[in-house]
Amino acid sequence: MCGIIGYIGERQAHPILLGCLKRLEYRGYDSCGIAIAGNSINVYKNTVRAEELRKAAPQLDGTLGIGHTRWATHGQPSQANAHPHCDCDGKIAVVHNGIITNFQGLKQKLIHEGHKFISETDTEIIPHLIEKYYRGDLERAVEAALDDIEGSYAIIVLMASEDKLVAARKDSPLIIGLGDRENFIASDVPAILDYTNRVIYLEEGDMGVVTKDNIKIRRDGIEINREEHKISWSVDEAQRGGYEHFMLKEIHEQPRVIRDTLVGRVSVAEPTVDLAAMRDKGIESMLILACGTSYHAALTGKYIIEELLRIPVRVELASEFICYGQTLTGTEAIVITQSGETADILRAMRRLKEVGCQVLAITNVVGSTASRIADQTIYTRAGPEISVAATKSFMAQLMVLYWLIMSYSKVDSRRLASMLLALRQMPSKVQQVLNNGYKILEHANNLSGYDNVFFIARGINFPIALEGALKLKEISYIHAEGYAAGELKHGPFALLRSDTPVIAIVAQDNTYEAMLTNIREIKARSSPVIALAEEGDEVIGGLVDSVITVPQVDAIFSPVVNTVALQLLAYYTAKQRGCPIDFPRNLAKSVTVE
Ligand code: G6P
Repeated sequence: MCGIIGYIGERQAHPILLGCLKRLEYRGYDSCGIAIAGNSINVYKNTVRAEELRKAAPQLDGTLGIGHTRWATHGQPSQANAHPHCDCDGKIAVVHNGIITNFQGLKQKLIHEGHKFISETDTEIIPHLIEKYYRGDLERAVEAALDDIEGSYAIIVLMASEDKLVAARKDSPLIIGLGDRENFIASDVPAILDYTNRVIYLEEGDMGVVTKDNIKIRRDGIEINREEHKISWSVDEAQRGGYEHFMLKEIHEQPRVIRDTLVGRVSVAEPTVDLAAMRDKGIESMLILACGTSYHAALTGKYIIEELLRIPVRVELASEFICYGQTLTGTEAIVITQSGETADILRAMRRLKEVGCQVLAITNVVGSTASRIADQTIYTRAGPEISVAATKSFMAQLMVLYWLIMSYSKVDSRRLASMLLALRQMPSKVQQVLNNGYKILEHANNLSGYDNVFFIARGINFPIALEGALKLKEISYIHAEGYAAGELKHGPFALLRSDTPVIAIVAQDNTYEAMLTNIREIKARSSPVIALAEEGDEVIGGLVDSVITVPQVDAIFSPVVNTVALQLLAYYTAKQRGCPIDFPRNLAKSVTVE
């Protein structure tokens, strides 16, 4: 996600901001920029790395400034879309991290009132709103602007005539770094650790007013105190947010990823889906193409689509997709790719276009090649994923699929309402799995001694068994296979012994009884069985060797909680085996060769 930084002090802001931007690089970005206030505001920004910005930027004079690393969510990576963004007169500059969901309406209104916009971003409305409300009191103007805004934000505001920085947050983190006759504001600790290790964490709804020797924190217009913390992490540890690996950090980010991916698309407060997205184009079937973990999201999507829309879905590995030119009329073609750069996906997309098919891409990267080839793109908003093993990007893909499928007008309205209510609870259900992670640790310690493991499930959790096996094999180097539970007896039974554990996903749906039968068959062959089952399942404990419990959810969402439990199982197993978790041997995050 985007990174933001602000500096106010007695030193030149320019080199300090650039140094902080370099420390934010680990978050991933496509453009960056700085703004420094003197008599006016000078902005320098472009689609370059921080180091190139340092070489190219003219020396901007001033001791007060803001900076930003952008990871595009609205509009392509471009100079115009890079932050900071300014008001009409270039007197107010803003950097922002988050998503403003009602920006289109606000933008139209501001245009009507005479404001001129130069970017496609949601952020640009903020300096214009502040300009609109400014009557000599910057804090008031910022408060008024934020009252108009819906969505999430962490912002820093710089104004030419004011010797202060104003910062505010909602659903996006922000900290203040305390120095000696200088202070900092940043989206995270690593940005400022070269300069100070004393920080204040702003809470939801806080506004910080920062001068070089004073910090004021306001909430609902009233001044409050927030505790100062001393950070003992190294920069490296801080970049991982204190987690030992990026993978664990990214697993823990999933409640936020679910919220970010759905914000503005699904109103979970009332049971409605964004009506602009309502689709019913007389689609008779769907074709979904993907690779790796994204393929498992696609397979999960097939179960959801067939249950809710009752149309046939064909899911194919993009690397195996051959299209001889058969007509695909009436077929909705979708590709799922977190990077948007996977060569097999791009080849398949081009082939689909050659035969006259419209393609919808689901990807995590704005401006990626897949988004440029596609006729329509839906972004997953997981933020950059650093660990090679995909976790939060998979979760975001699942969320987009749920939303997309629910937006088809074929879905029964009562079912839709109950699903929307269930969807609202997903971040807290996932949080419950994470909070119980220490229990999964014990299972992982046992699993780490084996060489071969099977993952089995039925129905909508079959793709999750495949994904669980993929996670385990890629990061722990244990040979793992995902299997449809009913298929084990058609071959793999020959491999079942006391040294071949089986992980069985047991969902509370119409596959439940059949799963119990399959588990009994396995137990008769003396393999240890670990079940992944819902809380309150009184039967399963008597059949298996051990149980990992997950919270109760509507069965159609069971892949969400089961996925998180299996990610943790793979992570802790790999850790126990001392594997290089974030960068497994021979694997790449983005595979750009066929
Ligand atoms: C690589 C990555 C996987 C990913 C797969 C497909 O193998 O390591 O995590 O699932 O590519 O990538 P895509 O970007 O198309 O989703």
